[in-house]
Amino acid sequence: MCGIVGYIGNQDAYPILIKGLHRLEYRGYDSAGVALIDGDQLNIYKAKGKVSDLEESCTSKNIAGTIGIAHTRWATHGEPNHINAHPHYSQSADLALIHNGIIENYAVLKEGLKQKGYTFQSQTDTEVLVQLIEYVKTSNKTDISTAVQLALKQVVGAYAIAVVEKSNPDLIIAARKSSPLVVGIGENEYFIASDASPIIEYTNKVIYLEDEEIAIIRRQEPPKIVNLNNVPKTLQITQLEMSLSELEKGGYPHFMLKEIFEQTRTLRDCMRGRINIDNNHVALSGIIDNKDKFLNARRILILACGTSWHAGLIGEYLFEEFCRIPVEVEYSSEFRYRKPVIYPDDVVIAISQSGETADTLAAIELAKNAGAFVYGICNVVGSSIPRHTHSGSYTHVGPEIGVASTKAFTAQTLVLIMMALNIGKEKKTIPQKQFEKILLELDKIPDKIEMILEQNSKIEDLSKIFTYAHNFIYMGRGYSFPIALEGALKLKEISYIHAEGYPAAEMKHGPIALIDNEMPVVVIATNGHTYDKTISNIQEIKARKGRILAIVNKYDDKVKNMADYVIEIPDTEECLGPLLSIIPLQLLSYHIAVKKGRNVDMPRNLAKSVTVE
Ligand code: G6P
Repeated sequence: MCGIVGYIGNQDAYPILIKGLHRLEYRGYDSAGVALIDGDQLNIYKAKGKVSDLEESCTSKNIAGTIGIAHTRWATHGEPNHINAHPHYSQSADLALIHNGIIENYAVLKEGLKQKGYTFQSQTDTEVLVQLIEYVKTSNKTDISTAVQLALKQVVGAYAIAVVEKSNPDLIIAARKSSPLVVGIGENEYFIASDASPIIEYTNKVIYLEDEEIAIIRRQEPPKIVNLNNVPKTLQITQLEMSLSELEKGGYPHFMLKEIFEQTRTLRDCMRGRINIDNNHVALSGIIDNKDKFLNARRILILACGTSWHAGLIGEYLFEEFCRIPVEVEYSSEFRYRKPVIYPDDVVIAISQSGETADTLAAIELAKNAGAFVYGICNVVGSSIPRHTHSGSYTHVGPEIGVASTKAFTAQTLVLIMMALNIGKEKKTIPQKQFEKILLELDKIPDKIEMILEQNSKIEDLSKIFTYAHNFIYMGRGYSFPIALEGALKLKEISYIHAEGYPAAEMKHGPIALIDNEMPVVVIATNGHTYDKTISNIQEIKARKGRILAIVNKYDDKVKNMADYVIEIPDTEECLGPLLSIIPLQLLSYHIAVKKGRNVDMPRNLAKSVTVE
């Protein structure tokens, strides 16, 4: 989703801005642009396509200036083209503005401005905002920061913006509402960005803007933060812990492959300090600090989108089995617009890699307003969701750059497992023997993932067989059902092959009509209490000549005899199965997508961080 970068200081702004845009590429975008002030010129350059296209188009241009703003756009209003790309000039070309988010009342504002003689070049809501700021500034004869405040008061919707003014080459104004924005504090230089990744190589001191806050950033002066009523706020500087090397590819051809291979380490990092095998102990501080909330929960509501929602589904199986608490798993986008029944003694768990997903944030507010206790499971430290929930657990997997989520998913699942064990033990709803067995097994998971990763080249070979396919079906039961959904999502996201996941027994209620000798069916057929039932489902597919690729445990003999292809994974406790069975499916999707020549890390139309609803 759109990315913002800004710079003001003593260095040339252009290289810093371009590098920053590259760091934000993982979010997904379709055009890019930059605005620079050089003397009495305010230059804007834009290009459809990639940041590298923008760089190419700038080769013969004046890119001087020590102040500038830059943007990657993910189209919402108006198609992805040069005209709709940001930055946008105001009517007089004295202001340039970049924007993430959606101005919901842009049509009304635009009509009002048209009547006052303003004309528009683009189809964007962003151009309406920059014109509005200019109109407010000239009609009220005020300065730019007051004009931004007054204009934003008229705006309904979500925004993170940055504005520069030709006649004011020592000032950037930035503001946010429901869309993230970070200010980086360097030595006599300041940065702004949608997240910390463009800033980290220059400074680890940042300020996270809150909703309806405006940062007034002047050259050589500490930034000033005010609200829309001009009330100043004390600066709260946060120290970042992310390192630059964590953002690089580390020798892998793609971030996605690097992130798949990192899972042995990331799961260890996620467990560190939370599990103690010697003492048979699992403790998450967020659970311990809020023990009563969990012990007295009438119900657990899990809210999430995309891959995080699949992790949430695994949570449903876990909490019901080990904590005996009823669970509902909801798409945030549906939940927020229903009239959901929320009880004050509900515990709401919001799951999000980025911590910025607009629908999940809105669903959290709804739950909080209804008096529920809200617990976040997030990866990005300091992002909006951890700041808007009562408590929570970080997944601690480091930055995930590949748009298709991999290591964040396994860590979200692991956090849910640890939560269920922690709560189940406190509630005494999990037998001690079973608790100990699972704990011992959990400790072995990273090594077992390593064993699966060793089969990478075998899975790569297998992937060649399937590049022909236009459709795929994934099926599983119990804890493997969410993995069927997640396996199918991974494949469609990055290979653009149509894929659907089903609970295996549902096949005969419709999807089985699709089976013929061209249809690959991936079956997660690992050990568990529905293993025999899954075998019957495989027979139904075989009888219709479907081509079965089965994920089985070592020493399995029944499925192996029926399937066309098998991938073996180590055996484990049933509830931990998802942590292992998803790994070959991630690799399979990755290799199929590479064979088809897809842009694996930045698939078309997708965004890493979905900050608009
Ligand atoms: C986007 C990403 C997915 C992610 C989903 C939810 O669609 O491409 O990978 O699962 O958003 O994002 P979140 O950051 O809330 O987990």
